[in-house]
Amino acid sequence: MKTRLSLSTRGTVDSFLAMDVLARAVDLETKGHDIIHLEVGQPGGNAPDSVLDAARHALGKERIGYTPALGRPSLRARIARHYGEVYGVDLDPGRVIVTTGSSAGFVLTYLAVFDAGARVGVTEPGYPANRNILKSLDLVPVPLRVGPKNRWQPGPADLKALDGADALDGLLIASPANPTGTMLKRDGFSSLIGSCAESGTWFLSDEIYHGLTYTEPAATALEFSDDAIVINSFSKYYCMTGWRIGWLVVPERLVRVIERLAQNLFISPPTLSQIAAEAAFDARPELDARKQVYAANRDILAQAVKAGGQVEIAPPDGAFYLYADMRRLTNDSEGFTRTLLDETGIAATPGLDFDKTDGGLYLRFSFAEDPSVIRRAADKLSRWLAARAP
Ligand SMILES: Cc1ncc(COP(=O)(O)O)c(C=O)c1O
Repeated sequence: MKTRLSLSTRGTVDSFLAMDVLARAVDLETKGHDIIHLEVGQPGGNAPDSVLDAARHALGKERIGYTPALGRPSLRARIARHYGEVYGVDLDPGRVIVTTGSSAGFVLTYLAVFDAGARVGVTEPGYPANRNILKSLDLVPVPLRVGPKNRWQPGPADLKALDGADALDGLLIASPANPTGTMLKRDGFSSLIGSCAESGTWFLSDEIYHGLTYTEPAATALEFSDDAIVINSFSKYYCMTGWRIGWLVVPERLVRVIERLAQNLFISPPTLSQIAAEAAFDARPELDARKQVYAANRDILAQAVKAGGQVEIAPPDGAFYLYADMRRLTNDSEGFTRTLLDETGIAATPGLDFDKTDGGLYLRFSFAEDPSVIRRAADKLSRWLAARAP
């Protein structure tokens, strides 16, 4: 029988294992252990100087009050201009909505386009909050298995396999993806969007790792369709995780719907962060230089991880993660990361965060730290893994 002080079933989502590892690593750090953080998905460096200067200036000069729920008009216009500069897409600033990180963008999008019970395809492995946010809103995450055979990205065949009652109401993809860093090729991207258009499925494109690509630039879903919903953020390429600022680009008919939701759920996105974020676009040369550093880090760390012998790594086209198949060394990624942390001080994320089925065989390493940290990690890791290699 339901008691009056019972808890909701919606609230019983899984914990975010990367954050659990971080908590344990910080606990060890406070006890004096030397810890190397490769578990959290955030750049090692601070926000660029242009951002910090803009924030300092605003604190001295401006009242930090509420803004319109859709965001400051000047930031919306600057974001729209960015689409012209980077992708050659002419975007009406009226379709840009500033959000409290992409995390709030997901919530607003789901509430705007899905009713309870709607089925949304998410990749497995994939960013764990995807399925957990959906569950907490009484939506149904439908796992789409991806792996080395399909370069860790779904294709139209995955949608066709879900016909009739199983059909999806929405499909969420990320290119580059977390945890693998792999990207959809342009034609794969456009055919997925085409399949969604045919079946009346919302296409949601998480573009948070754009700017952080090592092979070819990422395409935005807006190059293929004005019906796609783009979710983006200043957290990763712009190094602004803690500023909690991101944006959506939505079809025109959704703007007012999301505005009403945003007014009620959040009032407005953080004002100081909005002012600062506008200046982030001026820092692209500096941020591109940081990306070159990540690319070098990636190669150093990949070499070290391979010291475990026959370790397969998903091709990291972008983002700043290595998703390594460690099955020759473990089938218990949670226990393995605990031992790794205890014995070397290196914090990594167990694959189970991203994949409940095969995640026991995988570990994710973030390579966005300072190069000196990555070199130290590589040295320790290669020796530790070599000693365990079968
Ligand atoms: C794929 C992906 N999407 C969204 C987010 C959420 O980021 P934020 O809310 O900081 O914009 C993350 C964070 O790690 C991520 O990896």
